[in-house]
Amino acid sequence: MRRNIVFCKPIMKIIINDTPKDTYVALTEAMSEVFKKIHDRDVFLAVSGGNTPARLFDLWVYKYEHQIDWHRVQIFWVDERCVPPGDNESNYRMTVTHLLSKLPFMQKHIHRIHGEASPQEEALRYGEIIRKLLPWEEGLPVFDLILLGVGSDGHTASIFPDDPVLFSQNEALCDLETKVCYDTEEFSSEKPVCRVTSKPDSGQKRVTLTMPVINNARHVFVLVTGADKQEVLSQLFNHTPVSATYPASFVNPRSGKLIYFVDREAATPPVKPES
Ligand code: 6PG
Repeated sequence: MRRNIVFCKPIMKIIINDTPKDTYVALTEAMSEVFKKIHDRDVFLAVSGGNTPARLFDLWVYKYEHQIDWHRVQIFWVDERCVPPGDNESNYRMTVTHLLSKLPFMQKHIHRIHGEASPQEEALRYGEIIRKLLPWEEGLPVFDLILLGVGSDGHTASIFPDDPVLFSQNEALCDLETKVCYDTEEFSSEKPVCRVTSKPDSGQKRVTLTMPVINNARHVFVLVTGADKQEVLSQLFNHTPVSATYPASFVNPRSGKLIYFVDREAATPPVKPES
């Protein structure tokens, strides 16, 4: 497996592998190293949804069943579509199909976002669970590892371009439809852990971790594969003005441990049409 570290940006490392499979292996090996350094407690992992993680999870099942102690992994979701758990759109359903039904996670360590519940109530409920179970630093819970993807529009988690809350200092619990920012008294001086967003094209409600929580993680790994991500990555990696509008460009963990795991197809700059 040929592995190049092509860029080592001050705020991110980018590891490019030839194939999607090699990219998944590189991420998983790095994840395993992170877990090995945690001896005296469970590991707190948050995973994203979408298509890419399904193939990553398949690799975990196929090759890492015995290399990682799944019993001590507490698994959370970065985001969830506000649909029932059996819905084809459910990130939970995808994770059960590809991962949780095949590896020995402890049931009490599987922390599902209740997509079927009232989005606002679920954002508060899930945020409280995370507050209670995770260690804290800088006034926010700390995940050991958060796995993100990037949409071709530059979204990450379920934080989409033109999300007004993202540009505010303190992501309040705002319903983007009604533009009502819910009373965040519950958080007193603390920042919200989760909030409700809406997918722009469909209006589908989502519950998502907030950017401050993502950036409070000890490690953030971003997994991106496929030619359809060439444009968005080219903008992101070159810090273009366009990329400044991408929520993915706000991912910048204070730990400095941000690694993009990218296959060669996605890392290849897009061919611009002859002008
Ligand atoms: C979701 C994900 C989302 C995903 C990106 C990339 O719920 O859809 O959390 O943020 O990571 O959309 O998705 P793909 O991996 O399918 O390209």
